[in-house]
Amino acid sequence: MAANRTSIHGQWSSRWIFILAATGSAVGLGNIWRFPYETAENGGGAFVLVYLVCIALVGLPVLMAETMIGRRGRQSPINSMKSLAEEEQCSRYWQLVGIFGVAAGFLILTFYSVVAGWTLSYVFRALSGVFSHSSVAQIQNMFAALTSDPLRLLAWHTIFMAMTIVVIARGVKGGLEQAVRFLMPVLFALVLVLVCYSLTMPGLSQAIAYLFKPDFSQINPGTILSGLGHAFFTLSLGMGAIMAYGAYLPEHISIPRASLTIAALDTCVALLAGIAIFPIMFSYGLQPHEAGAGLIFKVLPIAFGKMPMGNIIGLLFFVLLMFAAWTSAISLMEPATAWLVERKGLTRVRAAAYTGGLAWVLGIGSLLSLNLWSKVKLFGMTFFGLVEYLSVNIMLPLGGLLIAVFAGWFMSRASTSDELNLTGYGYKAWKLGVRFIAPLGVLLIMLHTLFGIF
Ligand code: TRP
Repeated sequence: MAANRTSIHGQWSSRWIFILAATGSAVGLGNIWRFPYETAENGGGAFVLVYLVCIALVGLPVLMAETMIGRRGRQSPINSMKSLAEEEQCSRYWQLVGIFGVAAGFLILTFYSVVAGWTLSYVFRALSGVFSHSSVAQIQNMFAALTSDPLRLLAWHTIFMAMTIVVIARGVKGGLEQAVRFLMPVLFALVLVLVCYSLTMPGLSQAIAYLFKPDFSQINPGTILSGLGHAFFTLSLGMGAIMAYGAYLPEHISIPRASLTIAALDTCVALLAGIAIFPIMFSYGLQPHEAGAGLIFKVLPIAFGKMPMGNIIGLLFFVLLMFAAWTSAISLMEPATAWLVERKGLTRVRAAAYTGGLAWVLGIGSLLSLNLWSKVKLFGMTFFGLVEYLSVNIMLPLGGLLIAVFAGWFMSRASTSDELNLTGYGYKAWKLGVRFIAPLGVLLIMLHTLFGIF
């Protein structure tokens, strides 16, 4: 039974536009901000290894499954899950996976916008040329000065959320496509420029060893859960962002090939960002695990201050990091917006304003937990820490698990093989991934870390 729906939200113009949009979603703060500091906090190379294994074994099959469900359903994640569950004669409770996903995306958007706001602020700092006449200590203090000032954080958070609302309000062709078309290639070029600079740094060999020589004693359930959570985060999986983008994918495009390209590009950017950032860090005697979430903001400006044309490169770097965050934030806002349009018949403009407005309000909690509320702890974490932990380490893996189970066990062979256009070994490998490896992997790791079982 072929599903012949069309999306009311529009369609991507070509295969490359979809790849750019999905890569735009995938490549974001996760690659350039979160990956380096997660690596630093979870034992360096051990984390990188776990992360790569998770991308290949769990990330890729789930990426294909999400795109496939999206294209077959052709609606927001909630309604796509609902329609497919009906079509495959499964319980209508499967739409809870969509609801859960939209909620997770929402939570991520709240703190994502706060961090993207830091990036905006650094764009203006770079523009002022301040890095070239500041000492290492002054640069580190700049970051503390920003995060301890709630009003400044609020201003940047507000501007970034407004930028995201504007793109979403303009729709798939008029907003999303235009945004990703030029930004992504330039971002890639800039990462390469920074890598070239880092290749000349004395800390290079130490950095390469740090990233690629795993100390196996550092691999523990905590590292594995973080690696898994990050694999979902960086590929934008587990909450329906890719499902929403898949809904706009034209019929003839190969999902396996597009998924491979997206996963490969995303992984390359993360590793290259690591190769760009860590040598600078080691060259200046900074210890990765001390920097925390401020890592790139405290480290890269030092290099920008010293390198030839550093002000320009620094400016470009933060502009593009901001763009990368922007193309990702869009994908966090799209599922909820599309759902409001479908369900409540709102215009896109209104739906985007409601979604963004609510995320903006919740984001204020994260922003305050960096300063006024820094002593307020829930389960030993700040508000920001808790929202991040809940959404990234719990909701994304759980959402990914359920999506994999649905695609692997509840959708018929006819519909999955038809939609993926896969047969033979390729299909078997995918099925193995979504039926066993992804669900069992996620389940075992979560049972262990959360309840101490095994
Ligand atoms: N993948 C993005 C990043 O690496 C973040 C992101 C966008 C995301 N959409 C998502 C994460 C959906 C999880 C789910 O920065």
